[in-house]
Amino acid sequence: MPHSIGRVETGEAPHPSGRARLPRLPRLPRLARAVRLGAPAVAALLALTTACTGSTVQGRPGASGLRDPYFPKAGNGGYEVDHYGLDLSYDPEKGLLQGKAVITARAEQGLSSFNLDFSGLKVEAVTVQGAGARFNRTGNELTVRPAKDLRNGEVFRTEVRYGGRPKALSDPDGSAEGWIPVADGAFAVGEPVGSMTWFPGNHHPSDKAAYDITLTVPKGYEAVSNGLLGSRTDTGDGRTAFAWHSADPVASYLVTAAVGKFRVTTGRTPSGLPLYTAVSPGEPEGGGPALARLPEMVEWAAGRFGPYPFAAAGAIVAPSETLSYALETQTRPVFSGAPDEELVLHELAHQWFGNSVSPKSWKDMWLNEGFATYAEWLWSEDHGGPSVQRRFDAFVAGDDSVDPAADSDWDEFPPAAPPGPGDISSGPVYYRGAMVLHRIRQEVGDERFFALLRGWVADHRHGNASTADFTAYAERKTGTDLSRVWDAWLYGRKALPRP
Ligand code: ARG
Ligand code: ZN
Repeated sequence: MPHSIGRVETGEAPHPSGRARLPRLPRLPRLARAVRLGAPAVAALLALTTACTGSTVQGRPGASGLRDPYFPKAGNGGYEVDHYGLDLSYDPEKGLLQGKAVITARAEQGLSSFNLDFSGLKVEAVTVQGAGARFNRTGNELTVRPAKDLRNGEVFRTEVRYGGRPKALSDPDGSAEGWIPVADGAFAVGEPVGSMTWFPGNHHPSDKAAYDITLTVPKGYEAVSNGLLGSRTDTGDGRTAFAWHSADPVASYLVTAAVGKFRVTTGRTPSGLPLYTAVSPGEPEGGGPALARLPEMVEWAAGRFGPYPFAAAGAIVAPSETLSYALETQTRPVFSGAPDEELVLHELAHQWFGNSVSPKSWKDMWLNEGFATYAEWLWSEDHGGPSVQRRFDAFVAGDDSVDPAADSDWDEFPPAAPPGPGDISSGPVYYRGAMVLHRIRQEVGDERFFALLRGWVADHRHGNASTADFTAYAERKTGTDLSRVWDAWLYGRKALPRP
């Protein structure tokens, strides 16, 4: 479907993205009003005073979404998650998942209720701070009402027991995502919103958390997730439990689980980073020749972008053509069949750009895809491919003899303003996003450009950033006014300069 650049250009200025928060209640003016209102209001005043002195807690409902410009209902207001403990058991024959999610979060307001994003599956029981909690569901929102309101600042533990046959969902660009069953196992990918099909949570990239994921599967199956494998235990009832640990924060779209009769290879990169790669039966040994270069790529990327941001690396190779897309799931990207070299490099580059520095909103996707694409161009230039300059020129000229995507729709909309949620993963976000970076490099020169890339990941390590954060950072770091680049290439407020 063609997009009109004109329509995009008339859109508002770049939104100052960030975690949308609800305005706080104006407490004092209300009290003052109550005083003026006389007798019936005095009771209300007393109740409020009690609340303020803390002898009882008075909460209000947390927001049901974070008002992301593209996915307004994704995530929830009123709390932030520190840790997810997911205990999942999967029966690949029946396609049945049984789960317990223990979510440790901190209240950011007094809470009478709060939401989790969750799609499908049956919720069996919910407790908050050990006490039974009421809950109800509308759409993809699971509303939890704790027995006792939660105080602002309180760290609280929610336990959700659930189960059933997980159902993938179709995201706005038509990709199937979430829990994807295959003949002999399952794979979970969730960019942007699929993760809510297999665990309840605060499913927005602005709320990253640590994870412990235990997957219990019948003997003979392997189960793989993010981070480090802490233990592999025979449960004694014909099953094996795999306990995976991610200490560094993970955005929930980057969490994965894979179950299959995998061939697993382990090893280390030259600098000692542990590698764990799981390959589906029928796919080439080790995931093929491109994946064999992963250790070398990790070293190369660390040289370009700074230290690898996580404690492990590797890959998961699903049977070819079973997934709608490859995904840079944290520490362990998922591929649909043996990937080629540029794809391996692309998902690896996301570990810096997207996973360590994550977008504040889904509008900031070019900070992921433009950078990962540019990393592919850099790798290719260093390994016998066309120079980055030549590739950039080929895009401008629409010359697909240098890059097959060069005559794509890369200029149909500006990368910082996809026309809708179905376009956050479209060509312009990737290719024109990469071209934005090259335009910066042309303006500031190599030395300042690579210092900018390294500074960006170092200063936002394990955090979140928006497009506005990047443009401000780039100008500060390079000491250069880059407004012409932003206007023409990033936001599209001016026509693209053509040769
Ligand atoms: N981030 C993935 C990649 O470029 C692609 C995810 C696409 N998601 C989608 N819903 N189309 O590596
Ligand atoms: Zn990507």
